[in-house]
Amino acid sequence: MQLLHATAEAVPYAKTGGLADVLGALPAAQAALGHAVLVVHPWYARLAAEPPPLWIGDVDVPFDGGHVAVGVGTLEAGGVRFAFVGHPLFQRDALYGYPDDARRFALFSRAVPAVAARLGFAPDVVHAHDWHAAAVPALLRHAALLPPGLAGLPSVLTVHNAQYQGWADAADVVAWGRLPGTLAGPLALHGKGNLLHAGLRTADRVTTVSPTYARELLRPAVAYGLEQAFADLGPRLVGILNGLDLEAFDPATDAALAASYDADDLAGKAACRAALGRELGLDPGRPLLGVVSRLADQKGIDLLIDALPAALAQGWNLALLGAGDPALEAALAAAFAAHPDRLGGRIGYDEGLARRIYAGADALVVPSRFEPCGLAQLIAMRYGTLPVARATGGLLDTIDDGRTGFLFAAAEGQALAAALSRARRVVDDRARWRSMQAAAMAARFDWARAARAYDDLYRDLVAAPRAASAAVAATARGGLAPGEAAALDGSTS
Ligand code: ADP
Ligand code: GLC
Repeated sequence: MQLLHATAEAVPYAKTGGLADVLGALPAAQAALGHAVLVVHPWYARLAAEPPPLWIGDVDVPFDGGHVAVGVGTLEAGGVRFAFVGHPLFQRDALYGYPDDARRFALFSRAVPAVAARLGFAPDVVHAHDWHAAAVPALLRHAALLPPGLAGLPSVLTVHNAQYQGWADAADVVAWGRLPGTLAGPLALHGKGNLLHAGLRTADRVTTVSPTYARELLRPAVAYGLEQAFADLGPRLVGILNGLDLEAFDPATDAALAASYDADDLAGKAACRAALGRELGLDPGRPLLGVVSRLADQKGIDLLIDALPAALAQGWNLALLGAGDPALEAALAAAFAAHPDRLGGRIGYDEGLARRIYAGADALVVPSRFEPCGLAQLIAMRYGTLPVARATGGLLDTIDDGRTGFLFAAAEGQALAAALSRARRVVDDRARWRSMQAAAMAARFDWARAARAYDDLYRDLVAAPRAASAAVAATARGGLAPGEAAALDGSTS
């Protein structure tokens, strides 16, 4: 099949979290299964691709009452073709966090079909990720001015995190995308435009990144206002557990580590632990907790702050790397300053230090309030580091309590402290800790399994009789000017 992914992040080009890890690995796993895969991605100011993409000229994207020219750059890596969308709206220091983010990613989404056409890539399935690309399924179903062959294609939307939704004024989104007024319905949620909602209402299938999170999305506390839209999907909502790139994360070959090791010989892990302790100025000889996390409400770092006195009393040191919420950053910096020989780390984003923490810590703390999948715990297990995590979402689906890690239920500092205390007792039982490490390192969450699950989903979609393109066209014609309706007719014939 020909598969097109639309995403705002992919390793090694741009990363703020696990979305990038997924799009750095799933497409390659799909290529390995024999598919032709195109990943469409914005070209950000700080993006540096090696080798650089070949810029093949501009395409005209229908946008905001006219057309906007976007550059198209392309390269091949790992058997996957990447297409970068260049426009000044993406030329900023950070990937997101701007007041006009919805407009920026509406342009990105609007560009996706044009970019595919420019490359002569005719997808069988279009797979959009998170709110940044969630308008793509809506466009394929409803928009005019699509290149030939794109209208009405089967679409999949994967929700990596339902908390980020892409809010904007619904009328603005309709105007930006040059969409029919009929689309204001699927877009609207609580009186505003919501790009993720538009995707949920228009994609043929919606997936999320673990079976447990798929069930949790029916609950308001997890779905952040989208619970009805998730419930309405019924069996069209599917949880497919992420994998981990087992080559990119391998303690036997990881160049960022002070020493390499594998499941048969953990001597290198002890060396990594000692080196990390020296790097962070920690009192040697104590068991070490690690944290590598975005500092966002989701991640429950406040639970960790509440549990810190107990953790210190239990004898743990802590190595933490994270960035995000300024109040959490300040609280953590104060904790580092108060206990310089017991707590250390860095407020910031640092790929190398992240890897040294995964390798050097004994246990990784993941106290998330919700966790769609979570890759941090998968990396930790691969590095022989036992997760101490909240029993939610993908954490529950990947950690076997008492065998490969330690789970706790309540989103409270005390519950975390109790789980840390359980883990602390096992540290002293060397044989048991060793056998848990061996079990964690043997748990292989490879991408081939997930790629096959997506395959089954795509095949069902491609085989299913399409909601006839005539019906798609009729819906779309609703709010269109005559010229646009004619253009749509041309594109669906
Ligand atoms: P999320 O995507 O919600 O942030 P995941 O666990 O799925 O959570 O993925 C997080 C990814 O980002 C992992 O690869 C993790 O190592 C990485 N990461 C998170 N914070 C940092 C940081 N401060 N520095 C380096 N890598 C980080
Ligand atoms: C999101 C989720 C995280 C998941 C990642 C990749 O960022 O917060 O749990 O692992 O996407 O799917």
